[in-house]
Amino acid sequence: MNGFDYRGGVLHAENVPLSAIADAVGTPVHVYSAGALRHAATGFKAALGHLPSPRFAFAVKANPNSAVLRLLADAGYGADIVSSGELRRALAAGIAPAGIVFSGVGKTDREIGDALDAGIGQFNLELEEEGRVLASLARDRGIRAPAVLRVNPDIDGGTHAKISTGRRENKFGVAIADAPDMYDRLARLEGMDLRGIALHIGSQLGDLGPLEAAYRRVGALVFELRRRGHGITRVDLGGGLGIPYRSDDAMPSFDEYGAMVTRATDGWNVGLTFEPGRVIAGPAGVLLTRVIWVKPGATYPFVIVDAAMNDLARPALYDAYHRFAAVMPSGETMTANIAGPVCETGDVFGMARTIDRVERGDLAVLETTGAYGAAMASTYNCRPLSPQILVDGDSFTVVGDRIMPAEFAA
Ligand code: LLP
Repeated sequence: MNGFDYRGGVLHAENVPLSAIADAVGTPVHVYSAGALRHAATGFKAALGHLPSPRFAFAVKANPNSAVLRLLADAGYGADIVSSGELRRALAAGIAPAGIVFSGVGKTDREIGDALDAGIGQFNLELEEEGRVLASLARDRGIRAPAVLRVNPDIDGGTHAKISTGRRENKFGVAIADAPDMYDRLARLEGMDLRGIALHIGSQLGDLGPLEAAYRRVGALVFELRRRGHGITRVDLGGGLGIPYRSDDAMPSFDEYGAMVTRATDGWNVGLTFEPGRVIAGPAGVLLTRVIWVKPGATYPFVIVDAAMNDLARPALYDAYHRFAAVMPSGETMTANIAGPVCETGDVFGMARTIDRVERGDLAVLETTGAYGAAMASTYNCRPLSPQILVDGDSFTVVGDRIMPAEFAA
């Protein structure tokens, strides 16, 4: 795990022992490694940098922390946003409006207006009517809205059903068969500056095959649109690359992805946009937690930790796997269920797992939580939003406070 390793028997984030962070801010706490974020950000760009005028828009939904966004802005990333809230975060982090892409199947008129006023670089249209509203709001402002049409290529990305977006029954994009005529109609609208196509078939994709098939469908569409006289200058290839959560997960490397993109987009003659989220932020975070109890169970004991599904919803939502490791492992192991304090049976991080032996009071981490971790936190059970820490070399900074439910309106 890049950015996190054991030194002298203690798990560190870069040069900082996680025990020092727990002492300083308490647990549970989300900890990010700035070095790991930079490493992924530069590695991803390097693997695709040879492609024609590439643009990189970090999917803010994966980790909207302002310090993380600033770091990625410094690494040359724009932002893929899905709400006015994300727009504000991206702008506040210093991301240039021209580098912002607005995705999402339910943009309100107000959100579209906010984004037009901010001068963002690209709207990804999800339906024809949205294009008409966008064009008319742009016309009212005396401008033309830069946009691409998101298509649904009807390809199963082979990921969890709840994070699959490219099958025809999913809510995203317009049917690829309908796209040519729709593109003709939208491109004619006053106030519309339609430049190309977007797609995104799902997240945590472990196999490049479906992605390549989807790209090839889009390639055929690009040629059809050119045949109809459209000047197609940009294709947004979305995000979706998977990362290893289990020790033995084999995931495509950035270079393998780069080689596939190069092959699949050969001859398109367009600028390419990428919207990576998980691959940038996921490996760069852990959720640091403390064991409250080791409670006897019918088959295996329950290791009850102070982090819960409100801090990390992925296991409860998608049966997702996150490795569990002690901060100061003794070398012994145990088989146990790992659970949080929330009053739901589903508030478990793993069942029948062989893990480092832990006892009441020990510190442990759930690994690979930098993407869709704090981003999806809630205050369920009136629990606080956990703090967020960014470690950079020898130092760490609180980049997100612990927010108590009492600080929210009831
Ligand atoms: N672009 C679009 C249009 C998206 O919908 C998404 C993710 C991304 C880019 C970034 O995808 P990534 O590179 O991170 O796979 N909460 C779920 C993941 C939901 C993904 C939603 N869309 C999870 O924890 O697995």
